[in-house]
Amino acid sequence: MNGAVRVVVAGAAGRMGATSCEAIEAADGLELTGRADPSLGVELADVVADADVVVDFTTPDAAPGNIRICLDAETHVIVGTTGFDHEPLRLAAQQGGGGARVLVVPNFAIGAVLMMRFAAEAARHMPEVEIIELHHDRKLDAPSGTAKRTAELIAGRGGNVHEPIHSVRLPGLVAHQEVILGGPGQTLSIRHDSIDRMSFMPGVLIAVRAVGSLPDRFTVGLEACLDQE
Ligand SMILES: NC(=O)c1ccc[n+]([C@@H]2O[C@H](COP(=O)([O-])OP(=O)(O)OC[C@H]3O[C@@H](n4cnc5c(N)ncnc54)[C@H](O)[C@@H]3O)[C@@H](O)[C@H]2O)c1
Repeated sequence: MNGAVRVVVAGAAGRMGATSCEAIEAADGLELTGRADPSLGVELADVVADADVVVDFTTPDAAPGNIRICLDAETHVIVGTTGFDHEPLRLAAQQGGGGARVLVVPNFAIGAVLMMRFAAEAARHMPEVEIIELHHDRKLDAPSGTAKRTAELIAGRGGNVHEPIHSVRLPGLVAHQEVILGGPGQTLSIRHDSIDRMSFMPGVLIAVRAVGSLPDRFTVGLEACLDQE
């Protein structure tokens, strides 16, 4: 990529999309070249050609189609949308032509990435685990993408995440998660709180800058970008 990285945001009229547009416009070396959203009358297919990177914050129904549009256009895509099975897209990404990368990020908050990493590390020593995730009451999916990803990482380290993952939905919340590990006579709680959507923006910018250099065509987690820094 020469010059500024051209970025199109899908879901640009939504809560996360609008905040991302502001952050991209304010960032050095990035240029916001499109805002796709049905409520703005702009389809992603109409503006994808203006993008080096697409950032998707839409809905579980819309995101898979948007990712396919990006793969067909051979454009990198960062998927912030949660609540859908992204594994079928792994094969599509791996078979897709060109060098387009798909980066799925269940949580862009760096503190949340660290919370997941610390919880997985702790579960090696305290394997009995409960997860409580708390979000605003307009969130469509439950449990959250972050909670599911945390459970995967903990299971990968031999931990036993008790079912169900607990989901709290209330006005006033943004995005919060507590991982509680229990052992004889003790508990360890690891908690992260996003109290403002700005918490996600440094991670969005890191992902936009790093996605084109990822070694694999399909990657899950911001960790891959943080480890490149
Ligand atoms: N990964 C993270 O760190 C993170 C953080 C917060 C929220 N999220 C997720 O991001 C997603 C969006 O959240 P939100 O709170 O901004 O939702 P929102 O409802 O405020 O916004 C979604 C927007 O997508 C638009 N949209 C629908 N179909 C579309 C399409 N085909 N193309 C383009 N735009 C389309 C809608 O019109 C709407 O404006 C959710 O899945 C949420 O769980 C992820």
